[in-house]
Amino acid sequence: MKKLTVSLDHCQYPIYIGKGILAKLPEVLQEAGMTFRRKLFIISDSHVAPLYSKQVQTVLEKAGYEVGMAIVPAGESSKNLQQLEHLIGECLRFGLDRQSVIIALGGGVIGDLAGFVAATYMRGIPFIQIPTTLLAHDSSVGGKVGVNHALGKNVIGAFHQPMLVLYDVETLNTLPKRELISGFAEVVKHALIWDPSFIKWLEQNSEELMALHAEKISEAIYRGCQVKVAVVSQDEKEVGLRAILNYGHTIGHALEAVAGYGVYTHGEAVAIGMAGAVRLSTKVLGTDKQVVVKTEKLLHAFELPTQYNPSHVTDELLLQAMKRDKKVRNDEYSFVLTSDLGSVELVRGIHEEQIRTILQEIRGGKA
Ligand SMILES: NC(=O)c1ccc[n+]([C@@H]2O[C@H](COP(=O)([O-])OP(=O)(O)OC[C@H]3O[C@@H](n4cnc5c(N)ncnc54)[C@H](O)[C@@H]3O)[C@@H](O)[C@H]2O)c1
Ligand SMILES: [Zn+2]
Repeated sequence: MKKLTVSLDHCQYPIYIGKGILAKLPEVLQEAGMTFRRKLFIISDSHVAPLYSKQVQTVLEKAGYEVGMAIVPAGESSKNLQQLEHLIGECLRFGLDRQSVIIALGGGVIGDLAGFVAATYMRGIPFIQIPTTLLAHDSSVGGKVGVNHALGKNVIGAFHQPMLVLYDVETLNTLPKRELISGFAEVVKHALIWDPSFIKWLEQNSEELMALHAEKISEAIYRGCQVKVAVVSQDEKEVGLRAILNYGHTIGHALEAVAGYGVYTHGEAVAIGMAGAVRLSTKVLGTDKQVVVKTEKLLHAFELPTQYNPSHVTDELLLQAMKRDKKVRNDEYSFVLTSDLGSVELVRGIHEEQIRTILQEIRGGKA
């Protein structure tokens, strides 16, 4: 089992990564200072709960905890205020108090939703992240929690750090392939923004990673989390550096929204967004074209797309969606751009014309 520690000004918490470590939950709870048997409440979704909730519940009950559970329908559409209210009702009915702990068992949707329940219930109670998707190596770390509004994704939320993250890589064996691939986009992102040696390692190990070789996947998650931890611990509330985690997300978020949620997975959209961002970097920063070639090659090694299908979206709609994004001011766009592999920066004042050129380049052939 690998362990990483997130150290922030006001708190510190561990991330455990390994194969078959769900069984160790009582042990790590003890280590995290849970010396008495508080009430625990699992929040999961309709895909994950049938696979893993019994196991989690049993191991905790055997250790003497009283455990409740609520299950929401799987998918992004559960990340809303109605579910929040419903779940808070369930917490009240189960008698959770301020000493109780919520357990988020699932992917990023559950992490964000259950984390936000924990952030708001009785003005905030502790929670634990048990991520079950590859993408959630990103979302379970860093304390951003929240739900969507009809007019925007993740616009209702809070910063609420978990008390620990327990990542059992065995759960990835049941993850649909497309979701796995989506998660690799964020792994690749973490390498591209921070760590040239991680990029090399991903290039060399892509086949074993795609085949879910347990040790390799643990290593990839560990290294991805390491980047996230390094960034978040320098800028927890995104006043500066943390913005670099949005590499590929300006175009990516626009693509997700315009195509309609579900047409592209988050990772597919971010992969196309990174292909756009690296191409824009050659125009704005004069980045070497080899960086584009290498970036796209790495994304393709994980079967990720680097072009969007124009029958799903138009450039106009994409630009409009980008304008609604928090990162556009006075018609000037901000983009996280790359000067070289493993190094990015936030660049302001990018003009619409430059983005139009890039959109043409990453527009696929099918009309
Ligand atoms: N808080 C953050 O910092 C942050 C960062 C990135 C993304 N996010 C959020 O994360 C969400 C996306 O997360 P996601 O991609 O994990 O989506 P998800 O939670 O919807 O999971 C994807 C699908 O896989 C299923 N699933 C999950 N684990 C499984 C398993 N082990 N076996 C079988 N099926 C499984 C889920 O039920 C769902 O159908 C978005 O809402 C995004 O906004 C948050
Ligand atoms: Zn993302």
